[in-house]
Amino acid sequence: MDPIGNPYTPNAGSRPQALAGRDQELEQFRVLVGRLKRGATEQSMIIRGLRGVGKTVLLNAFEDRAESEGFLTYYHEMTPDSSLVGEITRDAQAAIARLKLSARATKAMREALAHLGTIKVVGPEGIELSVDLRAADEGTIARDLSELLLQLGRVAAEKGTGVVFLLDEVQFVKEVEYRSVITALHRATQKNVPITLAAAGLPQIPRLTGEARSYAERLFSFPVISSLSASDAAAALVGPARQQQVEYESEAVDLALAWTGGYPFYIQQLGKHAWNLASSSPITMADLEAAMPAAQQTLDSSIYEVRIQRATDQERRYMRAMAELGTGPYKTGDVAGRLGRKTSELSTVRQRLLDKGLVYATEEYGYVDFTVPRFGEFMVRYMPFRPPRRKPPS
Ligand SMILES: Nc1ncnc2c1ncn2[C@@H]1O[C@H](COP(=O)(O)OP(=O)(O)OP(=O)(O)O)[C@@H](O)[C@H]1O
Ligand SMILES: [Mg+2]
Repeated sequence: MDPIGNPYTPNAGSRPQALAGRDQELEQFRVLVGRLKRGATEQSMIIRGLRGVGKTVLLNAFEDRAESEGFLTYYHEMTPDSSLVGEITRDAQAAIARLKLSARATKAMREALAHLGTIKVVGPEGIELSVDLRAADEGTIARDLSELLLQLGRVAAEKGTGVVFLLDEVQFVKEVEYRSVITALHRATQKNVPITLAAAGLPQIPRLTGEARSYAERLFSFPVISSLSASDAAAALVGPARQQQVEYESEAVDLALAWTGGYPFYIQQLGKHAWNLASSSPITMADLEAAMPAAQQTLDSSIYEVRIQRATDQERRYMRAMAELGTGPYKTGDVAGRLGRKTSELSTVRQRLLDKGLVYATEEYGYVDFTVPRFGEFMVRYMPFRPPRRKPPS
């Protein structure tokens, strides 16, 4: 059928026509924003999930929701080089500008922020801020950011609005800054100011200790999103086509569910290829069978090969040994065993894979897993497993 009308969205962050299976998270966010608007507080959300399960599209849906409620929103995709406190300060400045404060309110805010150590009001008038975290201790960073958020929240509330920060790839946030932001949000929540944060990231979001941890446990819920259930996956596949009066044969849907395992990236890619190959409605099992090799090829090159290219031979062998053990999580001792080595001998390889974001340490101590669903299956397609050579008999 005409590729111009293809309703599937197999690209990172691109909004699916049917955002299937996320009603619970959307409802939770709707309540959060609604309550903030009334001056009440509610737990914010840090969404966790593997690559390609739909974290970015969910954050985008949150952003739309917050905007439709009249909130100011600021979205950031974090990288290992980002400064979260820097970003939030810049956003705060932008938000203050959008709120168009009176001369009196501006003067009051300039005075309130004048004594801060890491955030400075620069310039003779208005609110222009600069941040310098060098040489500052965590307590000062947290205190200054708290003050800024309280001031921002207060003026936003006066204008009948609020601010939502949306952070993607939150696993990259530096721990000191993450803790400072949590402390600042904790203050903001205590004072009932309409400011919140919704974030998303890989399962290994920064580990928290001490006060920050106990605040975070109260401030946030940590929903995990993963592959879609069978009925949601079917809706994700069938829904977009149906909007254009194109149906699927029911056996074709079953086959697609089995092949994709409900993984959103697979659904979009398979749907896209099946649509292009089918000559008319309904899309048949034969269309899907014909689409699978091309869909797999595209998935390999778009999500798996780019990652394997970042790995050294030794790291690839490690991941191949993981795959040899079946589905994860994988006990590091078992992976080492497959390679005929001791766990400790492979700790640097493992650490490099963690640093590269190819694997992550699961909550259970001593286990790792792939950050991309079905990476193990890819490894099996990608290279053979070479068992360790036995020591020659002496
Ligand atoms: N609920 C959903 N229903 C249908 N398709 C979805 C859904 N969520 C995501 N998708 C599709 O899955 C793909 C991946 O989505 P997205 O980029 O949001 O994932 P992600 O979790 O942010 O991945 P990454 O960790 O790589 O950033 C996109 O093609 C998107 O259109
Ligand atoms: Mg994403």
